[in-house]
Amino acid sequence: MLVSGEGTNLQALVDAGLPIVAVASNRHDATALRRVPGVPTAVFELGRYGSREARDAAMAEWLVSHRVRLVVLAGYMHLLTAPFLDRFAEAVVNVHPSLLPAFPGAHAVEEQLAAGITESGATVHIVDEGVDSGPVLAQERVPVLPDDTPATLHERIKAVEHRLLPEVVAELCVR
Ligand code: GRF
Repeated sequence: MLVSGEGTNLQALVDAGLPIVAVASNRHDATALRRVPGVPTAVFELGRYGSREARDAAMAEWLVSHRVRLVVLAGYMHLLTAPFLDRFAEAVVNVHPSLLPAFPGAHAVEEQLAAGITESGATVHIVDEGVDSGPVLAQERVPVLPDDTPATLHERIKAVEHRLLPEVVAELCVR
């Protein structure tokens, strides 16, 4: 698992009984790092490396050393570069709070509300070098309500993410 923040999606995978073998983050203060006692964690902050590629290569190496076979991004807020993606070809998935390809990027929830759309959603997709641009594996619609704030809409989307992501990861694990 790669995480940067709260880690509610990580928690959903834990609760689903999925075999999490390592958790890495680009932030030392990510709450998510404390969610799985007994599972190895590591922090790969960009400032400690000469480049994004060097950081990603070190992070991939660490995950491989823990026998990771599928990388799940759950609120991981950096793009991944080729040295990482080449190491885990077609084996990196992300969860995103919109119906991709609509509203990619880090501010998807706010941008959807600002756009006045009535339907949002959650997407699980394969990760490539673009911004939330890889092939979609699963998607589910979520209504936007008239009095929604970013917090209320994101909470409704996350409730769907917490079901959809473990379902997709479980399917990928048995392949
Ligand atoms: C989720 O909404 C996910 O779609 C997005 O970042 C959020 C992460 O939440 N990429 P959490 O850290 O899993 O609680």
